Amino acid sequence: MEPTPPNQLFLVAVLLLSSVICTFSVKQCPNCGLTSVPYPLSTNPTCGDQSYKIRCNAGVLIFDTLNNSYPINFINPSNQRLVIQPANLLPNTCISSDFIHQGIQLSSSLPFNITGENTVMLFNCSESILDQPLNCSPSSLCHLYVEGEEYSRCRDSSLCCTFKAGGSASAYRIRVLENGCRAYRSFIGLDWGLPVDKWPNPGVEIQWVLPLEPVCESQVDCDANSTCELNRSDGVRRCHCKVGLQWNPIQGNCTQTGGCQSPGGCDRQTKKTLITALTSSLSALVLLITIAILLHKRYKRIKEAQKRLARHCEEILSVDGSKSAKHFTSKDIKKATKNFSKDCLIGVGGYGEVYKGYLEDGTVVAVKCAKIIDYLL
Ligand SMILES: *[C@@H]1O[C@H](CO)[C@@H](O)[C@H](O)[C@H]1NC(C)=O
Ligand SMILES: *[C@@H]1O[C@H](CO)[C@@H](O)[C@H](O)[C@H]1NC(C)=O
Ligand SMILES: *[C@@H]1O[C@H](CO)[C@@H](O)[C@H](O)[C@H]1NC(C)=O
Ligand SMILES: *[C@@H]1O[C@H](CO)[C@@H](O)[C@H](O)[C@H]1NC(C)=O
Ligand SMILES: *[C@@H]1O[C@H](CO)[C@@H](O)[C@H](O)[C@H]1NC(C)=O
Ligand SMILES: *[C@@H]1O[C@H](CO)[C@@H](O)[C@H](O)[C@H]1NC(C)=O
Repeated sequence: MEPTPPNQLFLVAVLLLSSVICTFSVKQCPNCGLTSVPYPLSTNPTCGDQSYKIRCNAGVLIFDTLNNSYPINFINPSNQRLVIQPANLLPNTCISSDFIHQGIQLSSSLPFNITGENTVMLFNCSESILDQPLNCSPSSLCHLYVEGEEYSRCRDSSLCCTFKAGGSASAYRIRVLENGCRAYRSFIGLDWGLPVDKWPNPGVEIQWVLPLEPVCESQVDCDANSTCELNRSDGVRRCHCKVGLQWNPIQGNCTQTGGCQSPGGCDRQTKKTLITALTSSLSALVLLITIAILLHKRYKRIKEAQKRLARHCEEILSVDGSKSAKHFTSKDIKKATKNFSKDCLIGVGGYGEVYKGYLEDGTVVAVKCAKIIDYLL
């Protein structure tokens, strides 16, 4: 046999690698018929989250329970709910067609449960059901329903009961039993005051838990924005989002933290950012005001020092009133000292600098430069 050329080996390796990536990468499943399949629901092993398996059968989405299957009528990914079409009655009986499977039974180890939005009615019940905390009185809503056409067969079996699902007992099942009730009906968000002909279509609403980051075995299973890391508390490796990105359980990918697309966590994030912004602008304002006050104080002190200096000058000039004092302008003095040239400097002391100068008429003078600092208190 001829040895395989290296470039063919490379191609095989690339294909293998990409198939591995496809197997694990998180992405939304393709539409089932005309119905979109939102993340994390998964219709096959290459998409969605594998804990959220449903089926696509000839363009219809199917929800599998422990022992049975129901068509999915509606999916709302924004509140993680879907509605399944429950079983009808067996022909000419008041027995649900899923009676042999004991009604709807979900696995409590899967991330789905029955919501409290379901008003459930049980029909054709035996006396033993009266032990249960259900409303089976003659005024129970189920009696109203059997007056209608669809469940008129259940009219003869006088004992029926009504309850709101979603409690711990009914989070995973709507049960029908030989030793209990034999038929059920469920309505979502039912207004108990409405006449029966205004009721919504029957359905069972099921909610799913928001998915965690996808499970991984190594970095190959994660995309560029996440890292495969072991969680020590549950011992499971998951693709954790990189710094600055946040797991978005609705879209099923890592999104920018500032983007605020995650439910619940966003509000707090925005508030935190707002508080940070307010705090920093407030401290900036305080700093500015402090600087302004300090500058103003300094300006006032210099002004006062200049005034004191001027007063001092007047005092000097008026000591000997007999001789008339002469005022020199700063221009005269600059000229006399060659603009305070270093050559003319004859002394420096705590009082300031003394320059030798020549006036226009040749008179030699000493020019003392008072330091304004001496007049600052
Ligand atoms: C009610 O259930 C019992 C027991 O399964 C069954 O024999 C009976 O036919 C049911 N009633 C109707 C009206 O179908
Ligand atoms: C449901 O299926 C499980 C196994 O999948 C089985 O053990 C159980 O007896 C079934 N229950 C009913 C009511 O069919
Ligand atoms: C069903 O699941 C939802 C989502 O995790 C949860 O909020 C709710 O409490 C669960 N209901 C019951 C009865 O366990
Ligand atoms: C990673 O995140 C960036 C920014 O959010 C995005 O533009 C990019 O498409 C992401 N890459 C992948 C593989 O998801
Ligand atoms: C690790 O797993 C625990 C238990 O499932 C969970 O509460 C925790 O949030 C996880 N930690 C991280 C970083 O995902
Ligand atoms: C995350 O997934 C959503 C929906 O599939 C997509 O629109 C968005 O661009 C994705 N974002 C990133 C950063 O990959």
